[in-house]
Amino acid sequence: MNAPIAAAATRKADPVGKPWPSPKLDQGLEKTFLNIEDLRQGAKRRLPRGVFEFIDRGSEDENSLRDNRASFQRIKLRNRVMVDVSVRSTQCELFGKPASMPLAIAPTGAAGLAWYEGELELAKAAARAGVPFALATPSLTAIERIATVEEGRKWFQLYMWRDRELSHALVKRARDAGFELLVVTGDTPVSPIREYNRRNGFNSPFNFNATIVADVATSPRWTWGVLRHYLMNGGMPKQAHYPDDAKGRQIRMSGGAEVLRGDDLNWSDIARLRDIWKGPILVKGVHRPDDAARAVAEGCEGIVISNHGGRNLDTAVASLDVLPEIVAEVGGKTAVIVDSGIRRGGDILKAIALGATAVLSGRPTLYGAAVAGERGAVHALALLRRELETSMAYTGAATVSEISPKSLWLPPRA
Ligand SMILES: Cc1cc2nc3c(=O)[nH]c(=O)nc-3n(C[C@H](O)[C@H](O)[C@H](O)COP(=O)(O)O)c2cc1C
Repeated sequence: MNAPIAAAATRKADPVGKPWPSPKLDQGLEKTFLNIEDLRQGAKRRLPRGVFEFIDRGSEDENSLRDNRASFQRIKLRNRVMVDVSVRSTQCELFGKPASMPLAIAPTGAAGLAWYEGELELAKAAARAGVPFALATPSLTAIERIATVEEGRKWFQLYMWRDRELSHALVKRARDAGFELLVVTGDTPVSPIREYNRRNGFNSPFNFNATIVADVATSPRWTWGVLRHYLMNGGMPKQAHYPDDAKGRQIRMSGGAEVLRGDDLNWSDIARLRDIWKGPILVKGVHRPDDAARAVAEGCEGIVISNHGGRNLDTAVASLDVLPEIVAEVGGKTAVIVDSGIRRGGDILKAIALGATAVLSGRPTLYGAAVAGERGAVHALALLRRELETSMAYTGAATVSEISPKSLWLPPRA
């Protein structure tokens, strides 16, 4: 056994000596859902149009949404021949703890609309799959409820509010509930422009209007399986962490609750958060090397290169396209995580080969959860893991640390 494989073998146990879980394909679901696109189609069939489009679509002309996929497709893989890859592992360490692959579930507000208490399903799925789960500030399930999932690693994502006391209180709740890492999202100073939400009647928090009533009426499985449970357990689905007077109101929209505005977030906030949060802090939404360098200077343990899955600033650059220059600036000094557009395990390999520490995955597990809750989300993770392992084998990498830039063919620069 060569040295990297031996290293991977030693990572097969978590710090307390239990075997670290790895996502298993669900044989029942695999009859219908062979890849993430199949799960996406399943989610489309099941969810009301407004909810599906909220999850699936982008902002304005959706250039970034399309380019996220194109950026992965532009880069090609090279076979590596005549290498023994008979013992393979996708396991790695993320922030000092083992993970079954270099991936964490991205924070997604309103995962609870995909499935009843969808965030809880995602947290359970992540624990079963051996990857971290990031809970979003606007989630419908509260921090303390997520903490009831004893196994697994939990991260908390912060949208900083104008009222810092409220935000800091939320961060303290996450800390006290045992969350290990804080993701500060820096790429959403104002609400994005999502025209389809105006047309399809979708609102956040979810509420009824004529368009949504018609939509819900034609989505019986969702109405029965998701909405009915909320109505029987306290009423319409609402953001669990918002202060009571803001809970039922439009969020982060112009004219929305003033205390929840986040357009004054700045670097000095990191130092203030550091007084509360002793674990790693990541800044999410970074595109510029100078911002990445500033995050390092502020002592952040990582950055997330992201265009929010094409949901915020349209024509924002695809993460993969700026990854090399950011790795050149801060690689080795801080963790460089990438998201937006990952739909195949080969995409994960490309990001790692270009120098990423790990990736976040947003929609794939939401599609999975919309189809079959925790089971569906585990299945999505298992599909990605199988594809990653397959791509590793073809490119001659038996372990994550053997994934090499030499495996890539990069398009000539225009
Ligand atoms: C429905 C939905 C809600 C999201 N909500 C949040 C959020 O509350 N906070 C945040 O930082 N990112 C949020 N994101 C962005 C994700 O964290 C992540 O950056 C993005 O989904 C990655 O792209 P992908 O979906 O193509 O994997 C959301 C994404 C989706 C799809």
